[in-house]
Amino acid sequence: MATGRSLAGVYSARATRPMPLRAGARAPCAGAAAAEPAAEHVRRLVAEFDPAVPLDSAVTPPSGWYTDPDFLQLEIDSVFFRGWQAVGHIWQVKNPNDFFTGRLGNVEFVVCRDANGKLHAFHNVCRHHASLLACGSGHKTCFQCPYHGWTYGLDGTLLKATRISGIKNFNKNDFGLIPIKVATWGPFVLIRFDDESTEDNVYDTVGNEWLGSASDLLGTNGIDTSLPHICRREYIINCNWKVFCDNYLDGGYHVPYAHGDLASGLQLQSYETLTYERVSVQRCESAPAEPDDFDRLGTKALYAFVYPNFMINRYGPWMDTNLAVPLDSTRCKVVFDYFLDKSLLDDQCFIKKSLEDSEQVQIEDIALCEGVQRGLESPAYSVGRYAPSVEMAMHHFHRLMHANLRHCMNTVLYCNLVNSATFQLHKKHVCWL
Ligand code: FES
Ligand SMILES: [Fe+2]
Repeated sequence: MATGRSLAGVYSARATRPMPLRAGARAPCAGAAAAEPAAEHVRRLVAEFDPAVPLDSAVTPPSGWYTDPDFLQLEIDSVFFRGWQAVGHIWQVKNPNDFFTGRLGNVEFVVCRDANGKLHAFHNVCRHHASLLACGSGHKTCFQCPYHGWTYGLDGTLLKATRISGIKNFNKNDFGLIPIKVATWGPFVLIRFDDESTEDNVYDTVGNEWLGSASDLLGTNGIDTSLPHICRREYIINCNWKVFCDNYLDGGYHVPYAHGDLASGLQLQSYETLTYERVSVQRCESAPAEPDDFDRLGTKALYAFVYPNFMINRYGPWMDTNLAVPLDSTRCKVVFDYFLDKSLLDDQCFIKKSLEDSEQVQIEDIALCEGVQRGLESPAYSVGRYAPSVEMAMHHFHRLMHANLRHCMNTVLYCNLVNSATFQLHKKHVCWL
């Protein structure tokens, strides 16, 4: 995802048509920062994890990966700014004029469907004086800026610039909303910031580009558009976003200790983990239920982790998704969306009880994650170990992170860290300046 600073290098500062996003062009360092010192402590943190060590001998990433604000800035630039990122689901923009807003790092975005039914995504920033434009989610025929009333269509066109009589060198067509690439995969809406193409900004579908060779497995195991959205729950958790992901990726290791009720509904000895390019899948069979028992889990559960921060859980008649959004280095927001088989939409009892059971698991996980974060911040801890028979998906995640970070450390993006506004805020804590 872009930071405000990065976008300054991406889009023309002149009051003209915005330039397309171009990762390699975000390089104020090309001239100014060539002599800047490397961000050594972040570089050292990345290097402290060795992805080549086999799982049974490997140590986990150091605690600085989970606590350091500069490390998070590098993650934002190099992980969230690269490739497709899940940001919502199709039911949020089902009808013409539907929209929803969001934030990734410093990027404010709005996803909407115009009056002709075409999907769009834009930076949610007014071209006049930068006010945020749309708020929350809903249904609108246009976006009117709350500040001075400039008005945009849901196709991004500037429809009305108020009280600009006398203005010179101003062409309304150059002041539309700045577009972001948007796509869908099954029921999910994705955006990306690093696509340089100036072609149409909407992809009907990303095909295998998002999920790689896991695409078929997920597409044929009930992760599709047939399940209507039921509700959303959001949790602010006092932990680094990766603590939540790690907790998800331990192969059911913590389930018998932390989720007694859930454990009794699963056959944990059947747990298996599969890893793909950027996806890992954990599968588990459920304990047989009596015919009249409440049974939200069905006969088997599938838990797919889509790098870097999106989780898809498919069990019985339910699908739920978890999106772990970093807020700062020690805080994240996790968004849960629940989808249910159409045949049960009227069964309010079943829905209520299912959501209560799911909530109970989340409360238990939040306590675990917040406890881990406090431990990571303790001087007593530096690195840990993996349980080789169960924590392979977590190791896979850390290796992907390392590859991503390492790659970007060696590119121009890293120079941006040195120059970034966020970095400047934190530089008093940084040893190399
Ligand atoms: S900032 Fe939007 S109209 Fe002025
Ligand atoms: Fe859990």
